[in-house]
Amino acid sequence: MEFDNFDGVNEKTLLLVKPDAVQRGLVGEVISRLEQKGLKIIGMKFMQLEEEDLEEHYSHHLDKEFYPELEDFMMSSPIVAMCLEGQNAISSVRKITGDTFAGEAEAGTIRGDLAMGVCNVVHCSDSVENAKTEISRFFDEDELFEYDKTEYLHVYMEDERE
Ligand code: PPS
Repeated sequence: MEFDNFDGVNEKTLLLVKPDAVQRGLVGEVISRLEQKGLKIIGMKFMQLEEEDLEEHYSHHLDKEFYPELEDFMMSSPIVAMCLEGQNAISSVRKITGDTFAGEAEAGTIRGDLAMGVCNVVHCSDSVENAKTEISRFFDEDELFEYDKTEYLHVYMEDERE
């Protein structure tokens, strides 16, 4: 499969279920919401992040005052990395994720419903460029799967699937 195909229903995004969600038993709830939306899981793994992973992933925040605390938080337990696919997957996942500061996130969003502050349950990609970089950071090509999802017949109209 060409995992750099982001056309139509093939748009992909990276989502991390953060340590707070793992510790609070919210992994299933998060996955459920993503599945119920109609997103297709094409990669998923449980992993412990190390300092060097986070320095790369949050390289644009290295100089921020909060960075050491963010790094400690992200290493405080394993996380779940997911690669999700679907039409407008990047913006759809950001919409259901909600505002970065969970206390300001809309009710109905993952953060709005499940968190209070900057322990905000999930991370997700914010652009096609960043999604491509982040997916290849967390997944090797043989950890991503191409398969038919029968429910697509009832998630998308025929012209959307072409
Ligand atoms: S975003 O979503 O990337 O646009 O948000 P941003 O405001 O730029 O925040 C970047 C990430 O840093 C986390 N963050 C913090 N962590 C710990 N302490 C404080 N004070 C703090 N402020 C922001 C925030 O959750 C973002 O993480 P991700 O994983 O990108 O959601």
